[in-house]
Amino acid sequence: MDITRIKQMAGEKAATMVHDGMIVGLGTGSTVAYTIEKLGERIKTGLCIQCIPTSIQTAMRAMNHQIPLTSLDLVSHIDITIDGADQIDPTFQLIKGRGAAHVREKIVAQVSDLLLIVADQSKCVSALTGPIPVEVIAFGLYPVILALKKMGGTVIVREGQKKDGPVISDNGNIVIDYTPDFLFDPVLLESVITMLPGVVGCGIFSGFTKKTRVIIAGDTGCRIVPAQSEDNGTGLI
Ligand code: A5P
Repeated sequence: MDITRIKQMAGEKAATMVHDGMIVGLGTGSTVAYTIEKLGERIKTGLCIQCIPTSIQTAMRAMNHQIPLTSLDLVSHIDITIDGADQIDPTFQLIKGRGAAHVREKIVAQVSDLLLIVADQSKCVSALTGPIPVEVIAFGLYPVILALKKMGGTVIVREGQKKDGPVISDNGNIVIDYTPDFLFDPVLLESVITMLPGVVGCGIFSGFTKKTRVIIAGDTGCRIVPAQSEDNGTGLI
């Protein structure tokens, strides 16, 4: 099956899990784009929700579909956030940020009751490897690059497409992609990278495993994967 059709299945399935009155976090990327489209259709037929976008791209997509938007200063929590991922390990630790939206995505995930990840099955890995997107303020770029290289691995400053020079995030910062030689401990590495002065945030999401659920789509359809601790053998929760 075509990969876009597979992403569509996952994205649209997530939209069915949104109910009237919910505050919904909207992630960024090509899979969530289908969630946004489907939510737009449901809103036209009466669904009443308010959404918080995690990027300029998502805000624009939501506005195109007449989805009501709100902001973090106006809500105390988010009921559900639907987002994509680049890598998903069996315990639901994630790597995110291919689209450089991971800083806002992590903030929104933090205040969400449920983080619903939508992905095609190629995103499921036995262990996270990277590359790990890291957002850095320009002043700290070279010290951060040096520190990451000292830890072992390769660092690439992400280049724009149809724009010369580095990618600048929605927050006005530079994004680098760090591939460690070994990624033994995502919790520790997330903490070490995040503590480097100049780093705004990194794409390891190790802290949300308990509230994460994953919708995986593939050639044979789409299923909700339970966390390992909840697996009842049916593939359904
Ligand atoms: C945005 O910066 C990312 O975190 C995306 O959510 C992630 O890369 C998944 O994107 P796709 O759904 O396009 O694969």
